Amino acid sequence: MNVRDSEAVAALLVAAGHEPAKGEEDAELVIVNSCTVRQKAENKAIGKAGYLCAMKRKGESALKAVGLMGCAVARLGEEELKKQLPGLDFCIRPGHLNEIPYLAAGADTLGAHPERCGFSAFVTVMTGCDNCCSYCIVPKVRGHELSRPFADIVREVECLAHRGVKEVTLLGQSVLKWREGETSFPMLLRRLAEIDGIERIRFTSAHPKGCTDELVSAYRDCPKICRHLHLPVQSGSDRVLKEMGRRYTRDEYLAAVKKLRDFDPEFSLTTDVIVGYPGESEADFEATRTLMDEAGFDNAFVFKYSPRPGTRSAALEDDVPTAEKERRDQVLLSDQERRGLERNRRLVGTVREVLVEGPSKRNRHRLSGRDGGNRIVVWDAGETKAETGSVVRVKILEAHPQILLGKVV
Ligand code: 5AD
Ligand code: SF4
Repeated sequence: MNVRDSEAVAALLVAAGHEPAKGEEDAELVIVNSCTVRQKAENKAIGKAGYLCAMKRKGESALKAVGLMGCAVARLGEEELKKQLPGLDFCIRPGHLNEIPYLAAGADTLGAHPERCGFSAFVTVMTGCDNCCSYCIVPKVRGHELSRPFADIVREVECLAHRGVKEVTLLGQSVLKWREGETSFPMLLRRLAEIDGIERIRFTSAHPKGCTDELVSAYRDCPKICRHLHLPVQSGSDRVLKEMGRRYTRDEYLAAVKKLRDFDPEFSLTTDVIVGYPGESEADFEATRTLMDEAGFDNAFVFKYSPRPGTRSAALEDDVPTAEKERRDQVLLSDQERRGLERNRRLVGTVREVLVEGPSKRNRHRLSGRDGGNRIVVWDAGETKAETGSVVRVKILEAHPQILLGKVV
C-alpha cells in the first residue's frame, strides 16, 4: 500500500511539473513515506527524514525541501514531527495525497490520475480496516473500511490494460471483504478476469473468513486469478488468537488452508506471524510452530511484537524478553527455510508459467520472474531474449528455500 501511495505521489508531482531525480543525491525535494506498524519501522522512517533535514541544513547538496507522509504522520501529528525534525518542510496525512502538489515547492497544477506504467500495477480496492486486532495501529491511522466503487475499479484496470499492464494486484487491508450491494469480491474478480490484456490478478491481504466456496470457484473458473494467497495467521495458539481479537481459531484457519489445498495442492500460501505477544508462553509458541508445519507455508514473514501506543495490547505488559523474541524469530525462520525447500522440491521437473521481471539481482547473467504462486524463478539469460513483462515457460531443475532455478522450454 505504501509503494502504491508513493507512486501516486510521484505521478501527482510529475503532473504538477516536477521531474523525477536520478537519485537522492541530486533531488531538490525528497518525501519520506513512513510506516508505523512496528516501532522499528517508524524509527527507520523518522531517522531517514532527520538525516535528510540535516543534509538540507548543511546546504551542500541540491536538497531544498523535505516532506514526510504515511502512517507515522497520522500517529504523531505534524506539530510533534516538526519538533522532532527541525527543518522538516511539510507533512501529508494518509488520505490527503492530493495536497502534495500544493505543499511541494513550485507546484501549480493538480488533478493527475495516479498511475504506474510497466507490466505490473497496484490497484487499491479498499481502504481502512474495521478489524481492531489488539496489537495493530492500522485502524487508528487509516480509519474505517471503505470499498471503492465497482465501476471505478473496472475502469482503472481497463485503463491499465490499455497501457500494457499484464498483472494487477488488488490492495486492501482485508481485501476479501470488498463489497458493493449484492456484488461480492469473487464477483469483482470474475469481472476483472474478463479484461483483455490482463493476464494475472493478485490480491492482498486476506482473512480466513473470506476463503469461501465462492472464492474457490472463482479460482477454478478463472485461470488469470493467481493461485497464491497471503493469509496472515499471526499465531497458532487459540488463547493468543483470542487475545489478539483475530476472530478465528487455529482449526478454522487450518480449514481455510485445507479448502485451498484440496482445490490445488500447489496452491501457494504465505503468511505473517508475530512472536513474543504479551503472555506468549513456550506452549503458545510451539502451537505456532506446529500450525506452520500443518499449513505448509510457502513463505512466511516473522515479526517481533512491538507495542504500539493507543492499541489495546499496549496496556498489557510486554513481558517476553527481547532475547527470547529474537530466539523465537530465528526458530521460525529456520523452520521456514526447511519448509520452503521441501515445498519447492515438489516443483522440480514441472513447467511454470513465469512473468519476466528482468535481470536477477544477484546474478546479472540470469533473468528472474515469478510464477503464479509468486515464487521467484531464475534462469540463464543467454538462452532467451524474454522481454520484461512477457510470460515464458520455465522447467524447474533446482529448488532452493526462496528460489527456483530452471531453463526456458
Ligand atoms: N508488532 C509486531 N508485528 C505487528 N504487525 C502488525 N502490528 C504489529 C505489532 N504491533 C505485523 C502483523 C501484520 C504485519 C503487517 O505486521 O503480522 O500482519
Ligand atoms: Fe491490523 Fe488486524 Fe486490520 Fe490487519 S486485519 S490491519 S492486523 S487490525
